Parts: sequence; C-alpha cells; structure tokens
Amino acid sequence: MKLSLTVLVLAAAGAAAAAHENATGVVGERMELMERFDELADRIFAMMHGELAYDPAAVRRAAEEISSKAGTHMTALFPEGSSGAPSEAKAEIWRDFPAFEHYASALGDWSRELAAQADGQPRGKLPVSWEDAVMGPGMMQGGGMMGSGGPVSAAWHVAAMCNACHAEFREED
Ligand code: HEC
Repeated sequence: MKLSLTVLVLAAAGAAAAAHENATGVVGERMELMERFDELADRIFAMMHGELAYDPAAVRRAAEEISSKAGTHMTALFPEGSSGAPSEAKAEIWRDFPAFEHYASALGDWSRELAAQADGQPRGKLPVSWEDAVMGPGMMQGGGMMGSGGPVSAAWHVAAMCNACHAEFREED
C-alpha cells in the first residue's frame, strides 16, 4: 500500500513535466512550434521593454519566423481529433475549425505587420509578459493602442492573437 501511494504521488508530480516527452508525432511537433513561438514572443517583448537592446533587424527576423509558421502551416498540425492527453488542444477546435483558422491567419497578418513596423520607434505600453496582452475592455483605452501603429502596437496584437486562441481552444493547465 505504502509503495503504491508513493508511486501515485510521484506520478502526479511528474505528469506535467513529462507531457512534452510523451508527446509524439503531430502533437509533439505542434508543442515544439508553440515553444518556439514562446521564445520569439519573449524576445520581442524583452526588446520592447528595454531588457534587451532594441534591435529592429532581430525583431523583424523573429516576426518573420512567426508569420512563416502561422496560418496553414500551423493549422496543418491540428488534424481532426488530435486532442486528448498529453495534448492541451480542446475538441472545440474541430467543432469550429474556421474560427481556429481565423486566429492562425490573424497571427500571420499581425506578425507580418510587426516585421514591417520593426524600424519604427518602440514606444507605447506593453504588459511585461506576452501572456498578459489580452483582448478586453481595457484594450481600447490608454492611448488608442489599436490605431497607434508602430512596433509596440503590432507586437501587442501578435500576443493578443496567441492569447485569444489559447483562451478559446487550449485547456487551462
Ligand atoms: C490558432 C490558435 C493558436 C494560436 C494563434 C497560438 N496558439 Fe499556442 N497553442 C494552441 C493550442 C491549441 C495549444 C495546445 C496544443 C497541444 O497541447 O496539443 C497551444 C499551446 C501553446 C503552448 C504550450 C506548448 C507546450 O509545449 O505544451 C505555448 C507555450 C504556446 N501555445 C505559445 C503560443 C504563442 C507564443 C503564440 C503566438 C505567437 C501562440 N501560441 C499562438 C493554439 C494556438
């Protein structure tokens, strides 16, 4: 009895950490893609906050990499029914695939916009983490983020697309 309890506790603790190692095939591939997006979005946000020196060429490269892997490249990694552990993809994806595709394609549009705006002045407000750039009532306040243009506004929109899709189509951890 004692032994099996220990095994259960260890299994529970290890489950989250092991999720990536267990993911194979297309699920593993899209997790890798998302991890790469995470790295790129972190880098872009760090440069806009001044934690890293703002380097327009690096922002452009990161944005171009996101745009090249968004859209259909990304939705192709979500074949019908490929949810279930260890994946965090919700079955809703295949109940409304056009909505899912819309976010993937909007991510491509906004990252292309960011690449085009990378040479501009990185001025404006941005949350510390890309994960906090969410659509909501506050979005339209505080200096018209929507219409202001420039790299910060574009970066905010890139992150908002990541978060909007996650809110609708990804299980909470
Ligand atoms: C079209 C919808 C969509 C967009 C856009 C999107 N994601 Fe995701 N993301 C998902 C889904 C669905 C999962 C869960 C995939 C799975 O576990 O099978 C996920 C998972 C993740 C994960 C966890 C990966 C892991 O290893 O478990 C990270 C990190 C992530 N996304 C980052 C991002 C970033 C950063 C962006 C924007 C640059 C982004 N995503 C854009 C749908 C999206």
